[in-house]
Amino acid sequence: MRVIETERLKLRGWKFGDLDDLYHYGKNPRIGPAAGWQPYANKAVALSVLHSLMSRGENWAIELRETERVIGSISLTTDLKRGEMNAKIIGYNIAEEQWGNGYATEATKAVVRYGFEVMDVSVIAISHYPFNMRSKRVIEKCGFTYEGTLRHAFRRFDGEVLDLVCYSILREEFYGQDRDDITDEERAKPHYERTPPPGQS
Ligand SMILES: CC(C)(COP(=O)(O)OP(=O)(O)OC[C@H]1O[C@@H](n2cnc3c(N)ncnc32)[C@H](O)[C@@H]1OP(=O)(O)O)[C@@H](O)C(=O)NCCC(=O)NCCS
Repeated sequence: MRVIETERLKLRGWKFGDLDDLYHYGKNPRIGPAAGWQPYANKAVALSVLHSLMSRGENWAIELRETERVIGSISLTTDLKRGEMNAKIIGYNIAEEQWGNGYATEATKAVVRYGFEVMDVSVIAISHYPFNMRSKRVIEKCGFTYEGTLRHAFRRFDGEVLDLVCYSILREEFYGQDRDDITDEERAKPHYERTPPPGQS
């Protein structure tokens, strides 16, 4: 899979040497349940997840360039809610000791760009559970548009039934083609750096 470099991060394929870093954040009960999956009970579970991440090729390890350690993951997978559309959906996790440093936002902006510019997708979706205010903030900072809330969308591993708050960015929005109120210079900027459309902040 293609490596994506940002100012502080390297998004790359997974390696066997990442097992300790994956297990470190994957066993934390504040990570998996917020994203829908069960914390890893032991290293063997982490190893089997690592095998699957290595074979699927649609999930990047997020490496901190400064330390060369993996601090999380980000995926761009088929959005099954959107049938025949060339639509993808983003998911992410960051190790707790790294929260609040802007890493999820930096990685998400880079993957959105990759989705439209390299994969030529038509729409990129993202969603969070109603209680997940950190993820909501990341999504807002990346310029996604709120679509609605899918009620009773998901039964989590622990049996809890959760709603999903859904957002997306369309290709036209990414490239500014939906806007006739802005200059070409403004249109050429990444969508999240543009002046928002009237009535939207
Ligand atoms: C959600 C998650 C990926 C965010 O990662 P992160 O690297 O901390 O995100 P960022 O630093 O880019 O942005 C976090 C934002 O949330 C804000 N925030 C933190 N706690 C918050 C709260 N309780 N309410 C509202 N905003 C909050 C931060 O201040 C920051 O916004 P700011 O830059 O405007 O100050 C990370 O918390 C995580 O892995 N959580 C567990 C798994 C998960 O929820 N995955 C996503 C499933 S949808």
